[in-house]
Amino acid sequence: MKSLDDLQVAGRTVLVRADFNVPLADGPDGPDDTKVITDDGRIRAALPTLTYLRDNGAKVVVIAHLGRAKGEVVPGLTLQPVADRLSELLDDDVEVADDITGPHARAMAAALEPGDVMLLENIRFDARETSKVAEERQALAAELAALADVYVSDGFGVVHRNQASVTDVARLLPNAAGRLVHKEATVFGGIMAEPARPFVVILGGSKVSDKLGVIGNLITRVDRLLIGGGMAYTFLAAQGHGVGNSLLEADQIEIVRGFIEQAAARGVELLLPVDFVIADAFAADAATRVVDADAIPDGWMGLDIGPRTRELFASKIADAGTVVWNGPMGVFEMEPFAAGTLAVARAMAGSSALTVIGGGDSAAAVRILDVDESAFTHISTGGGASLEFLEGKTLPGLAVLEEDN
Ligand code: 3PG
Repeated sequence: MKSLDDLQVAGRTVLVRADFNVPLADGPDGPDDTKVITDDGRIRAALPTLTYLRDNGAKVVVIAHLGRAKGEVVPGLTLQPVADRLSELLDDDVEVADDITGPHARAMAAALEPGDVMLLENIRFDARETSKVAEERQALAAELAALADVYVSDGFGVVHRNQASVTDVARLLPNAAGRLVHKEATVFGGIMAEPARPFVVILGGSKVSDKLGVIGNLITRVDRLLIGGGMAYTFLAAQGHGVGNSLLEADQIEIVRGFIEQAAARGVELLLPVDFVIADAFAADAATRVVDADAIPDGWMGLDIGPRTRELFASKIADAGTVVWNGPMGVFEMEPFAAGTLAVARAMAGSSALTVIGGGDSAAAVRILDVDESAFTHISTGGGASLEFLEGKTLPGLAVLEEDN
């Protein structure tokens, strides 16, 4: 995999695939108002690459997607709010073309001066981007490649997708990994190859079914597996405990039982919550109680790990060599159920281990709960991509950068 330093970029037009798929909320004037970005982490993560290219005299054309437009032009999914934020962060004017590879984008790209940055409109407005038909993707890739001299892959969040702007276009131009993709691939590659031990993985989030591949792959590699969040209740049920109205995937109980047996056979410490914060409704103003893990009454639901579990998990993180965390411990968006997620984030931030946060909800939680981001070794920008890495899968957007072209 080549890096930016291997490319000649001065005076050349560089196509950068970034992942600017950021969460949006309606503006102050409601659904018709311009959308507001609620977490700009992914935009900030692209700055090292964009700044390097500008400083080295490249003309930069950025490709990105927002949401799942499914080949339709969806006005609410325009990249305009991203261009506005990028303009602020780069302290320069970044404009978004009205189209993707049409006359406006081509004219804008041709008029770029060294150091300029522009955005193509949301790549997923073009159905060929995500097409399953290779020829359709390749046709779009050829139009994208015609805009530039060089391709830089910097959208780690999409490297698990075999899409025109991720894989096909990389085959048509001299290419390299951008700073972000390089860092993500190096961090995750290192963890999978040779983690400093004890290697501790903390998994949460609502569904165990989303994490089966990760658990299956990691159970052969980790020293400790800590389980929290909604998925913990299926583990509890597998041990024969009642879970009241808590989230439960009954069809996963047998598989989870298999994981529990596998962990025991391999000497992996599998830690489940010992207590929970329970509520009588899924609401921030619900009545709450703290109960032991095996004592969730009927009619109540667990919405966070309890205080004894917070201490237990923190102690298991404290002496780790490597800690990887993916998925919140509770419904952290509601204040009464945020303490578990905050405790894990703080324990990781305070540890001297190599600490990695998988993208998606856990990365958002760190920012929303205002934990110092610089205290972690790495906060991934990839939700699905980081999970697939931990599952041990080949990521097509990384594999293509290893091909000769
Ligand atoms: C993400 O948000 O994880 C990436 O941007 C990929 O988006 P996708 O799941 O719509 O492909």
